[in-house]
Amino acid sequence: MIKIGVMASGGGSNFKAIIDHIGEGDLEAQCKFLITNNGTCGAVEHAMSYGIPVYHISGKTHPDVHQYERALCAVLDERPVDLLILAGYMKALPDVLVERMENRILNIHPSLLPKFGGKGFWGIHVHEAVLAAGEKESGPTVHLVSKEIDSGRILTQRKVPVLPGDTPEVLQARVLEQEHDLYWRTIRDYAAEVL
Ligand code: GAR
Repeated sequence: MIKIGVMASGGGSNFKAIIDHIGEGDLEAQCKFLITNNGTCGAVEHAMSYGIPVYHISGKTHPDVHQYERALCAVLDERPVDLLILAGYMKALPDVLVERMENRILNIHPSLLPKFGGKGFWGIHVHEAVLAAGEKESGPTVHLVSKEIDSGRILTQRKVPVLPGDTPEVLQARVLEQEHDLYWRTIRDYAAEVL
């Protein structure tokens, strides 16, 4: 049984998809916690409906950076996990966490990295940039988290077409649908490889 912890900032549809696949028996895992930097996001509502403990840790709750880092580490001390899963977490992780969980943190990004990754490329902005560049295909990437944003080892990718008339929102929905199927499979396969 894989023990995971999830970090999310937004709607939480990737988080929900992972929890649902655990519930359906596709992924033999237990989710020990949700950490969020946004106490009112959709991911928090999902966690509460599944009875998953929520920790709200942000620059607002912990203005001092060391206090902030200690709060994140305290969650891992209290509820140890095998893998930390970033599911729409829109804040860079502190180095101390990346070092502590080296090769154990996964992130999903909504483009075919290394294209459209790094600072400023998050959420809908990624899809806007893909359309502006006239790309013919896009799709999600699951990768390991390193200290450089969106630069860790790529684990999986899945391509979708960019179609004439696509808006950023339409393309986002097409990519997101694939994210929901790709992420739990990647967690399963990566855990089988390293745990
Ligand atoms: C997803 O598309 C995810 O790939 C993206 O944010 C969205 C979160 O959706 N992540 C990033 O842009 C990270 N750089 P969700 O909250 O519904 O899972």
